[in-house]
Amino acid sequence: MLKLKKQYSSTLRELLEKINYSLIVQTIRGNGAFLDPWFDLDSAQKAIESIPFAKQNIMKLLYLGTPISKESLLNEISAETLMLLIECGLLIENETMIETANIVILMYQQLYLVVEKPTNHKYTKNSDTDVYIGYDSFRLAENIKFDKGAVVLDLCSGSGIQGLIAGKSAARVISVELNKTAFNFASFNGLLNDLEDTVEVRLGNLYNPVKQDEKFDYIYVNPPFIPVVKNIYYPLCGDGGEDGMHILKKIIEGIPNIAKKSSKVQIFCQCLGDSNSILFLDYLKNFSKNLEWNCNAIVTDKLPLKYQAQQLATFTACVNKELDIEKFIKDMKQIYFDLNVDYLYSLIIDITVGEKGSLKLYNIANSWNLKDIPVSNENIDIRNSNDSYIVQENSEIKGYFDTIAKDIFDLFDGENSLSDISKQLHPKNSERFTEAAFELEVMMNVQSMEKLGLINKKSRVNL
Ligand SMILES: C[S@@+](CC[C@H](N)C(=O)[O-])C[C@H]1O[C@@H](n2cnc3c(N)ncnc32)[C@H](O)[C@@H]1O
Repeated sequence: MLKLKKQYSSTLRELLEKINYSLIVQTIRGNGAFLDPWFDLDSAQKAIESIPFAKQNIMKLLYLGTPISKESLLNEISAETLMLLIECGLLIENETMIETANIVILMYQQLYLVVEKPTNHKYTKNSDTDVYIGYDSFRLAENIKFDKGAVVLDLCSGSGIQGLIAGKSAARVISVELNKTAFNFASFNGLLNDLEDTVEVRLGNLYNPVKQDEKFDYIYVNPPFIPVVKNIYYPLCGDGGEDGMHILKKIIEGIPNIAKKSSKVQIFCQCLGDSNSILFLDYLKNFSKNLEWNCNAIVTDKLPLKYQAQQLATFTACVNKELDIEKFIKDMKQIYFDLNVDYLYSLIIDITVGEKGSLKLYNIANSWNLKDIPVSNENIDIRNSNDSYIVQENSEIKGYFDTIAKDIFDLFDGENSLSDISKQLHPKNSERFTEAAFELEVMMNVQSMEKLGLINKKSRVNL
C-alpha cells in the first residue's frame, strides 16, 4: 500500500516535474497512442534511450517499470528523494537494484496516474490486478465534461482517472471503489495531482457510501462487465457475472436515487448480444420505459464470441494457475448458447435524466456479421505490385490489399458468407491465426473494404 501523506506525494510530484515527465511521456507515446495506456512499450523504451534530455533511468523505472541499479539511479535523483519514495511504498530496494512496488506512472492529459502493472506486463510481479487501467478508461475519460460547479459521482473508480479529470473543474467529486488497493491508489493519485480538496475517495460497494441527501449532476462509470463462468476466480475489476450484467443492472437501478432533475450519466461497458440486439440495451429500454430518461448508445467495437472465449481463457489462466482451459472455453460457450448470443459489443451509454426519449443506437464498430454475404462492385481491378495489391475501380485507385485481403476478396461470389470464407482460408493462414482470430480478421478486412466502397452486403442484418 502507498502511504497517504502529502510529504510523499509532493516529493514524487516535484521529481516528475523536474524531469519533465509529462512532456517525455507524450513524446515517446507518439500520436497514435491516445487511447491505449499500454501502447507499444518496446518502442517507448527505444524512444526513451534516444531522447537527449530524458533522464533515462528514472523514466525507465517509473514509466516502463524496469528495475534499475541503485548506483545509476543515484546519478539522476538525490539519495533523500530515493529514501522518501521507498518510505512511501512506491519503490523497493532489492540488494543493488531499485524497482517499483509493481507500479508504473502513466499520464492522461496532464494527470499523473499511479497504477499497477497489468497481467501481461513484461516486469509484472503479480499476474492479478487490483488497480486496473485500459483503453476503456481513457475512452470514458475523454467524454468528461468540464463543468464548473458540478457535483460528480465516479463509480468504480479504480485508479481514479475519471473522477480526477472531472475534479479539475467540478466543485466536488465523490469516487467510490470497493477494492482496498485501488482505493489506496485513487486516494494517492488525488494527493499527487493536488486534487484532494475536490475529489473525495470512498471505500465501499457501489451506492452504499453515498449519503441519502447527496445528488449528482454527472455520473461516470466504467464497471466490471466481463461475462465469466461462476465459481472461477476472476479479478474484481472485470467480473460481471455470467451474463456480464450483474453490476451494470445494480448501477442502473440506483440512478433514480442519486440523480438530480437533469443529471447526465455516462457508462462504458461491454455486453453480449446477437446480430439484432444487445442484452443490456434491452434491459435498459425496459427499465427506463416509465422514466423521464433519454438514452443513447454508441457501439464502438464488436467481437465474435469464439474469439472472446479464447482471449478470456488465456487471461483467466494467468490468474488461475490450475485452470482447465478446454473446460473453461466449453463452459463459456454453453453460457453464450443459453443466452442465444454471438457477439460481445463495446458500448458508451449516455443517459440524460429528465428528458423523455426512446433509446437510440449508433454503430461506429464493425457492422458485419459472420452470416452476411459480401458482394463486390463490378469493374474492380486488382493488380499485383511487389508484396501488395493495388485496387482500382474504373481506373481510379481505391486502396491497397495485402495477400489475405486479396484471398478474401477472391471468394466473394455472392454465395459465400464471412464464416464460409473464414473456413476456406484459415488452413492456409493457421500458423499466424487461430480459427477464432482468423474469423475476426475476415470481419475486419470486409469492414475496411466496405469503407473503401468496394463491396456491399447481399443480405443486410443491421443492429
Ligand atoms: C473496469 S475497472 C474501472 C476503473 C476505472 N474507473 C477506469 O476506468 O480505469 C472497475 C473498477 O470497479 C471496482 N469495483 C468492482 N466492483 C465494485 C463495486 N461493487 N463497488 C465499487 N467498485 C467496484 C473494481 O475494483 C475496479 O477498480
